[in-house]
Amino acid sequence: MRTQVAIIGAGPAGLLLAHLLHQHGIECVVLEAKSRDYVENRVRAGVLEHQSVDILNQAGVGARMMAEGLLHHGIFLHFAGRSHRIDFEELTGRTVMIYGQQEVVRDLIAARLAARQPLYFEVDAVSVHDSDTDSPRVRFRSGGEQHTLECDFIAGCDGFHGICRATVPPEQLSLYERVYPFAWLGILAEIPPASHELIYASDERGFALLSMRSATVSRLYLQCAPDEDVEQWPDERIWSELRARLNVQLASGPVLQRSVTPMRSFVAEPMRFGRLFLAGDAAHIVPPTGAKGMNLAMADVQVLARALQSFYGPRAHGGRSGAMEALNAYSQTCLSRVWKVQRFSWWMTSLLHRFEEDTPFDRRRQFAELEYIVSSRAAAQTLAENYVGLPLAP
Ligand code: APR
Ligand code: PHB
Repeated sequence: MRTQVAIIGAGPAGLLLAHLLHQHGIECVVLEAKSRDYVENRVRAGVLEHQSVDILNQAGVGARMMAEGLLHHGIFLHFAGRSHRIDFEELTGRTVMIYGQQEVVRDLIAARLAARQPLYFEVDAVSVHDSDTDSPRVRFRSGGEQHTLECDFIAGCDGFHGICRATVPPEQLSLYERVYPFAWLGILAEIPPASHELIYASDERGFALLSMRSATVSRLYLQCAPDEDVEQWPDERIWSELRARLNVQLASGPVLQRSVTPMRSFVAEPMRFGRLFLAGDAAHIVPPTGAKGMNLAMADVQVLARALQSFYGPRAHGGRSGAMEALNAYSQTCLSRVWKVQRFSWWMTSLLHRFEEDTPFDRRRQFAELEYIVSSRAAAQTLAENYVGLPLAP
């Protein structure tokens, strides 16, 4: 089996890359360990920066997002018993879109299958070979049969727990990590959102977040212990804790899904080893407070797709085939934005959560910072411009 680009992982990174490459006449094969049903129903975050919205629209896969997504013009910050609105549109001229990650994944899978392009689910024994040569290979098993996929490049889009990053010799990778001493207990519930925009609440009992997926489905989160047992959280305990922290009128309703998400900041540098390019969660993780995970993944693959286009040359005009400059710059181009987004995600997390070791001094300082944000246009604008999304790399 041969292709131009082997893509490992069918999350937002792998699927969007496959779509962008196909649009430019570059062949690829996508290999995914889980089933289609699993990846389409995996509940994750749901905020798209305005540029991620543009990428999906320009790629021709934004129609359902534009019809069903919720355009948001700001967020609320709740602290010290009061609510303050940060108006993104007024501060930056930009908005964000609320649209679940699994909806993006569904749209991209539908596009790939409609184009009759190769996408293998439930593959196993995936291994990467010779990525330090010009002829890398991926071996995998599908339907009980062993395959070897020969290719020009490998895109490691296999998430934080994937195998691609682990194939890079450890002495060639620098890892940067911070693990937070708490997690988020997240639920998806069948209740209309109690606020028309997201509420980020910094409460004495811990952080809480009110988000949504539609006019009838809410997504809610509570700061909890990193080893929290969801079994200890019957519905009524969740609802009463949310009410206490969010300080809003919140109806109870059926809980459709619940899970605990650990909080971590992580970067692997560089994002490339020979002809293996890491993208999305395979290369970096952000804590979800800034809602950046999916957006970073989309920004990476946009850079990678453009670099591969410049390598293969424009389809119609037979351009500079073999140009490696943009591919050589890939890691540095991505990392300069990745680190800015890491900083913002760490900052939002530090600003809004209770840390066990916090002294009364730390808590006063947090409040002072929140007060500053809601009373200074410069500070509010800094939050807003990061939240709606820093410019994509050139
Ligand atoms: N072989 C094939 N596929 C694999 C393998 C493997 N060995 N290991 C993991 N995968 C698949 C996973 O099953 C998953 O579907 O790779 C995919 C990686 O997708 P994501 O984890 O969604 O990562 P990414 O596409 O980078 O998207 C980043 O996802 O984790 C969230 O919040 C994060 O929003 C962020 C986004
Ligand atoms: C979500 O809707 O799932 C969501 C929203 C904002 C965040 C994180 C998650 O910061």
